[in-house]
Amino acid sequence: MKVLGILGSPRIGGNSDILLEQALAGAKDAGGEVEKIVLSKKKISGCLDCGKCNETGVCAVKDDMLEIHKKILEADVVIHSVPVYFWAMTSQMKAYLDRWCAFFDAEWTLHKAYRPKMKVKRIGLITVCGDPNVSTADPIVHSFKNTCQFSGLKLLDVVQASAAAKGEIANNEVVKKKAYDLGRKGAK
Ligand SMILES: Cc1cc2nc3c(=O)[nH]c(=O)nc-3n(C[C@H](O)[C@H](O)[C@H](O)COP(=O)(O)O)c2cc1C
Repeated sequence: MKVLGILGSPRIGGNSDILLEQALAGAKDAGGEVEKIVLSKKKISGCLDCGKCNETGVCAVKDDMLEIHKKILEADVVIHSVPVYFWAMTSQMKAYLDRWCAFFDAEWTLHKAYRPKMKVKRIGLITVCGDPNVSTADPIVHSFKNTCQFSGLKLLDVVQASAAAKGEIANNEVVKKKAYDLGRKGAK
């Protein structure tokens, strides 16, 4: 099983990163082949809605997302980990998600060539917010749930956590275990 981890926080070693590492450790322990992509280290512009990918299935914006598109297609499981910024996902994660546009044709149907790979793909989501109420991240969950439903992808468990200071989540054994189990389940 190929498990791709996508970090949407620019804070390396922060809470989302710690939980993503937990998930990838779980996936690895279950025999998965894991890889992590840190979006803030990549050049990913926003979708231009130029429509070129509707015909070709390949994004016209020549940046690091082209390689990430390929990695998404190759992965069996893609686990995203992202903090809440102003009641939404970070700009890094939003730019990445908008660029999923390339998987679709003009009717918003998955390109035929991608269907076999997309239909069997499973998606994981981890959210972190500073607010003690983890449901502050629900708009992000809503976005991923609908994207999965729309694309015919299966959404694995969602793990929602609360922590503010950098690395604070390391003390939360319960949520770390949930993230680990998410990765383990994904790689099985
Ligand atoms: C620009 C910015 C905006 C934020 N907005 C929110 C918010 O709207 N609600 C919230 O609960 N936490 C908010 N936070 C707090 C982060 O979600 C929190 O610190 C989280 O642990 C960061 O995760 P990280 O360590 O993975 O980067 C914000 C933090 C930053 C830097």
